[in-house]
Amino acid sequence: MKICVVTAFVNLLEGPLNESIVKRAREKRLVDIKFFDLRDFTDNKHRQIDDTPYGGGPGMIIKAEPFFRAVEFIKESEGFNSPEVILMTPQGVPYNQKQAKEFTKQEELIFLCGHYKGVDERVREGLVTREISIGDYILTGGELAAMVVIDSVIRLIPGAISDLDSALTDSFENDILDCPHYTRPEDFRGMKVPEVLLSGHHANIAGWRKQKSLERTRSRREDLFK
Ligand code: ADE
Repeated sequence: MKICVVTAFVNLLEGPLNESIVKRAREKRLVDIKFFDLRDFTDNKHRQIDDTPYGGGPGMIIKAEPFFRAVEFIKESEGFNSPEVILMTPQGVPYNQKQAKEFTKQEELIFLCGHYKGVDERVREGLVTREISIGDYILTGGELAAMVVIDSVIRLIPGAISDLDSALTDSFENDILDCPHYTRPEDFRGMKVPEVLLSGHHANIAGWRKQKSLERTRSRREDLFK
């Protein structure tokens, strides 16, 4: 899988995507991630990427030109044939685990990170194949949102997590929340591990976990429980 991220703030992404599971996946060459500075694709000497909105009003709009030139450059230099071009925006389709799994089937992903008031609508019209929101709140830009999506996709690539079972039993994998987990010691400051988990009885343990998952889902996420 090849992932290219177009952003005016490369530093926001470079550090976090160079740690832990994502770092190892990159080292194992399961995924190739590259960052492209939007300002490198401007056509003015001040490297200005934004401008005031037609029709007036507050805020700045990111110009169409740098995003178009960046994507054209990536297609050419990376040899992308039919990449998914994803715009991170609060106006996008809500992101979830199902979409994360869908993305693992793609080989070429390009993330466009907006900022300020928004991006010129022609980026959507002529460039973007998918718009994604990570939730009903406004971030300062699309970078953190892109990072969330990239992280959640990479950990699903076979080989990224050493214990694949661990990913398959995550919350949402079966449309329910995960059950409680414990590790040593058995008694921590008077809080004890439930007996059943110490019993060695696999069927009872599985039954307890399922029940706890359902209880949690019912009390915290009625929408999923239904
Ligand atoms: N950019 C700003 N807010 C966002 C959100 N909630 N999801 C995706 N991209 C964003």
